Amino acid sequence: MMFRAACRVGVSLWLMLAPACAGDAPARSPAEIMDILMWNREPVGGPFELTDHTGHVRTNNDFRGKLMLVYFGFTYCPDVCPTDLQAIGLALDKLGKDGESVQPLFITVDRARDTAEHLAQYVPMFHPRLIGLTGSAEAIRKAADAYKVYYAKVSLGKAADDYTVDHTAFIYLMDRDGNYLGFFPPGTSADRMVEIIRPRLADPAR
Ligand code: NI
Repeated sequence: MMFRAACRVGVSLWLMLAPACAGDAPARSPAEIMDILMWNREPVGGPFELTDHTGHVRTNNDFRGKLMLVYFGFTYCPDVCPTDLQAIGLALDKLGKDGESVQPLFITVDRARDTAEHLAQYVPMFHPRLIGLTGSAEAIRKAADAYKVYYAKVSLGKAADDYTVDHTAFIYLMDRDGNYLGFFPPGTSADRMVEIIRPRLADPAR
């Protein structure tokens, strides 16, 4: 897979920071978002209505009865997103049959490049059950706001398509009713995810 645009990485493991550019600007700074997540200051998660990589409309309600692993990113991200998506895929494999009650979701923060067709080529590289989601700018922003995700397009050159997207990269774990359980930071290993998720699979009430 070729990645045209560089993703700015290295400010810290958890965040890729840069000033937002004009357009679909985030309402809150990465620091505010971090603060909310770290100290549970606001609810995380909520309703969304997006289009999956097969072109079907999907809402949060489609996944009730399953745990959800929700990850926001973009397919041109050179390392953070693919690394975390690989870990998610590996964790699901390690969970085996039980893992079928975990639904992994990849919500793009780069709708211009991550069309349903493009996501259809990308998500199966990580796991056959990974669902890629895209939508209107408003729908993606609404979902990201609900999950306390920061993202902002950052221009890399003069050409309109020469940009990257800075974004927070937490992996959210939601329960069978769609309620927030917690987050895994970027770089979490598959084994650690399994350790947290497996006890919940043994007891469907959890
Ligand atoms: Ni990324």
